[in-house]
Amino acid sequence: MSRKPEQNIIDEVTEVLSCILKGTIPNKIDVSDYPDDGIKQLSEMVNNFIESFSKTRDYIVQLSQGILDNEIPTKYFLSSPFKQLQSNLRHLTWQAQEVAKGDFDQRVDFMGDFSKAFNSMVKELEKARTNLEQQIKDRTKELEKSYEEIRKNAEELRDLIDIAAHELRHPATVFRGYANILLEHWDSLEEETIKDALLKIDSATDRLTRIVVQFSDTSRIERGKMDLSYSETSPMALINNVFAEAQGKGYENELNIKPPEEHGGIEVDADKLKSVLGILLDNAVTYSPQGSAIDVWFEQDDRETVYYVADRGPGIPEADRERVFERFYQVEDAEHHSIPGIGLGLYIARSIVEAHGGWIKVEPRDGSGSVFSFGVSNSRRGDSGRG
Ligand SMILES: Nc1ncnc2c1ncn2[C@@H]1O[C@H](COP(=O)(O)OP(=O)(O)O)[C@@H](O)[C@H]1O
Ligand SMILES: [Mg+2]
Repeated sequence: MSRKPEQNIIDEVTEVLSCILKGTIPNKIDVSDYPDDGIKQLSEMVNNFIESFSKTRDYIVQLSQGILDNEIPTKYFLSSPFKQLQSNLRHLTWQAQEVAKGDFDQRVDFMGDFSKAFNSMVKELEKARTNLEQQIKDRTKELEKSYEEIRKNAEELRDLIDIAAHELRHPATVFRGYANILLEHWDSLEEETIKDALLKIDSATDRLTRIVVQFSDTSRIERGKMDLSYSETSPMALINNVFAEAQGKGYENELNIKPPEEHGGIEVDADKLKSVLGILLDNAVTYSPQGSAIDVWFEQDDRETVYYVADRGPGIPEADRERVFERFYQVEDAEHHSIPGIGLGLYIARSIVEAHGGWIKVEPRDGSGSVFSFGVSNSRRGDSGRG
C-alpha cells in the first residue's frame, strides 16, 4: 500500500478543521492510507469529534422539533447541559399536560423569561376558568330564575282560569235563573218581583262588566301599554265624581268625605285616578259590615296629594299587606274567604298610581279596619317620594 505524502495529509486535516470552524459538518478523514504515527492519531480524534459533532447536531435538530426521547450523545462536552435541557423540557411537557387536566398550581422555574411567560399563562388560564365557572353559575342562576318565573306565570294562569271560571259562573247562574222565572211566569208575576229580578240581572251584569274591565286593564298593564292622559282637575272633583258613581251602585254603607279646608288643582290622568278611588271604595264596601262608615279624605302639600280610604272592615293581616297589591292575590282568612273577587283591583290600582310616579299602601286603622292611602304628585313633572 502506498503511503500518502505528508503535505496531502496536512491539507486534508486543515480542510476538515476549517469546515468545522465555519459551522458545517465535514466528511470524516479517510485514514486508511495514513502512516501509523501521531498525525493518524490526531486525525482519528478529529474523526471522533466529527461524529459527536454530527450526532449532536441531529440531536439538537430533533429537540427543536419537539422530539424529547432521543438519546443524548455521550462523552461529549455538551452532553450534560443537553441532558439537563432535555429533562427540563420533559418536565415542562408533563406540567403542561397537568395544567390541561386542570391543575393550575403548576409553576415553571427555569429559562427566566420563558418561566415568567408560562407561569403567567397558567395564571391567566386559571383566571379564565374561574371567570367561566362564575359566568356559568350566574347564567344557571338566571335560567333558574327565568324558569321559576315561567313556572309561576303558568301557575298564575291556571289560578286565573279557575278564578275566572268560578266568577263567571255567578252572573251566568243569575241570568239563567231569572230568565227562566221571567219566561215561565211572566204573565202571573207581580210588578215588584219582575223589578227585583231585573235589578238582580242588572247587578250581575255590573259584576260581569267589572271582571271584564279588570281583565282588559290587566292585559294592558302587562303589555306595558298604560298611557296616561294628563289634564287639570282637583282632588275634590275626583272624589265627588267617584262618590256620585257610588250612589248609583246602591252601596249601603255610610260614605263620608272629609276634605281639607284648602287645596289646589292637580295635573293627573283623572279617569285613571278615579278608577283607583273606585277600586278602594269598592273594596271598602265589599269587605266591611253593611252600614258601617267609610271615610274618604285627602291631604295636600305643595308637592303631592295623598288620598285616604278608611273602613271598619276586618283589616288585612300584616303578612298580606304588601302582597294584596300583587296580581290575583287574595287574603285567605275566614273573614275574607267567602267574598267573591278575582284579586286584580289593587294590582290595577297600584299600576295606575306607579305610572303617575306615586305610591300606595295599606295600614291598620286605629280601632279596627284598614286605611288605604296613595300619593301622587300635584304636577306632571314632580315626583312623589313618600310611602
Ligand atoms: N278594604 C279591605 N279590607 C279588607 N281586605 C281587603 C280590603 N281591600 C282588599 N282586601 C283584600 O285584598 C285582596 C285583594 O283585593 P283586590 O285586588 O281588590 O281583589 P278582589 O277584591 O277582586 O279580591 C282582597 O281579596 C281582600 O282579601
Ligand atoms: Mg277588589
